[in-house]
Amino acid sequence: MALEYTEVITSSNKKKRKPNVKEDELSEQQQPSTYHFFHDPSEISLFRTQLLHWYDQNKRELPWRTVAMTEPDVNIRTYAVWVSEIMLQQTQVATVIDYYKKWMKRWPTVEKLAAGTLEEVNQMWAGLGYYSRGRRLHEGAKKVVSDLDGQMPRTTEGLLKQLPGVGRYTAGAIGSIALGQVTGAVDGNVIRVLCRVRAIGADSTSPTVTDALWKIADRIVEPERPGDFNQSMMELGARVCTPKSPLCSQCPIQTHCHAFRKVSIKHEKDSKTLLSKLTAANLNTSVPDIENCSAAGSCNFCLSEDWDPQLGVQNYPRKPVKKAPRVEKTLTCIVEWQRAGEEMVYLLTQRPSKGKTKPGLLAGMWELPSMLLEAGVSENKHKSLLCSMMQKLLGTSLDTDSLQFVGEVVHIFSHIHQTYIVFSVCVSDCSEAEQEQNISWLTKSAVQGAAVSTGVKKIMKLYESSNNVGSKDKKRKLSPQAGKEKRANKTKKLKDVATNGGPKQLCLSKFFSTSKPAVKAKSKNS
Ligand code: ADE
Repeated sequence: MALEYTEVITSSNKKKRKPNVKEDELSEQQQPSTYHFFHDPSEISLFRTQLLHWYDQNKRELPWRTVAMTEPDVNIRTYAVWVSEIMLQQTQVATVIDYYKKWMKRWPTVEKLAAGTLEEVNQMWAGLGYYSRGRRLHEGAKKVVSDLDGQMPRTTEGLLKQLPGVGRYTAGAIGSIALGQVTGAVDGNVIRVLCRVRAIGADSTSPTVTDALWKIADRIVEPERPGDFNQSMMELGARVCTPKSPLCSQCPIQTHCHAFRKVSIKHEKDSKTLLSKLTAANLNTSVPDIENCSAAGSCNFCLSEDWDPQLGVQNYPRKPVKKAPRVEKTLTCIVEWQRAGEEMVYLLTQRPSKGKTKPGLLAGMWELPSMLLEAGVSENKHKSLLCSMMQKLLGTSLDTDSLQFVGEVVHIFSHIHQTYIVFSVCVSDCSEAEQEQNISWLTKSAVQGAAVSTGVKKIMKLYESSNNVGSKDKKRKLSPQAGKEKRANKTKKLKDVATNGGPKQLCLSKFFSTSKPAVKAKSKNS
């Protein structure tokens, strides 16, 4: 059960934070006043008209919008909007456009997607992040073909129940945009718009507020154009009612916005206060106190914390403090193999497609041989564990001394702050070892096009720039002393070129000794 903070007024009328009040108890105490809802039909009607007028004038031409407007086949239309909505979860419109176009070119129908492989889907999704989304789309397509006779669900409820990865928002968005279903669609942008418009300052992630926002969205959606209405709310949130620096002066629904009104009235009061100090005028003459909820002080939906005058409308929405991401360090190794007369190839291993109970992070994707660092385990132990793992993959003996330090790469996943500590090794021969894990040898350009995460691409980029920095070293034979100095220099330069964080990420030298010369690994057979 979610725990919340709420304001209580003590006998001395001082606000105190009262922790650990259960959500259910809260909602039983009071129902929020009409101030936080839309109750006047004429206001709703004006709100719709003004918002849709603005949308018609200002909307971006986006490929999925064009399909939704022009595709006569309801099955293709629903599939196309489904793909767009899944891609748009957690990802910016600008990033999605190219991925969307490529996807729809490759798999223009649900049947075509169902006939593709997960490997192809992962490859297409590479770089977009949150890889389980692509996998679920693929699973969903296979389900539609095998269980639903190739027919996409025709209602919001059907979309929600039948398609994996489709939650309440996505079902509402697809249902309204592709099928004309009269339902709201509350995503992050819409939460912000509604919390500002109705001055909802309680925790916007709490079940009570979420429920209220859905009620409002369902109430105000334009029944004649539900898809456009929902997209106009999203568009407003993305382009006008933005998280930072909102453009209130350009907002088509400014007159409906309680947050804007509060800010204006506070400004007016402040300037009157200033004036009254100069003229001793009466403060409370012309400004009616209608900016407040009638239950202010005891209302669950009003601000849960004090108003910050610096923030203005950005006082809304309120969210609980985010949990800090988990910090992880991973030892990773670029294994290169130069076969005579052929392009250099690099070793990739495939992550398992299943975790113990469900598909794990980056399931089925390709990565460099890697090992998560464990606290309390020494550097040498980690390096030798990584070497043993690679030996098994390669069928070749590998010494820890052969690992050459390359640098560090920081990659932020949704909830993990990952630092890759990158080594490289050059192998001259590999036997065909029995693999428990899928492995693959790919050229540099094939790695970039493979089903790999952005983290792998960043590591390869670092390696490439490190080779450029150190390329002269490879060409000349150096005396041992000169070589040592060169390598120390190279390590310093490598630290400077580390892609994410550059000179700050120098802590590896504290963990591991660096600047070992690249030594060809000895083959078992040689
Ligand atoms: N975000 C989610 N769905 C969207 C859509 N249809 N248009 C623009 N942004 C969106």
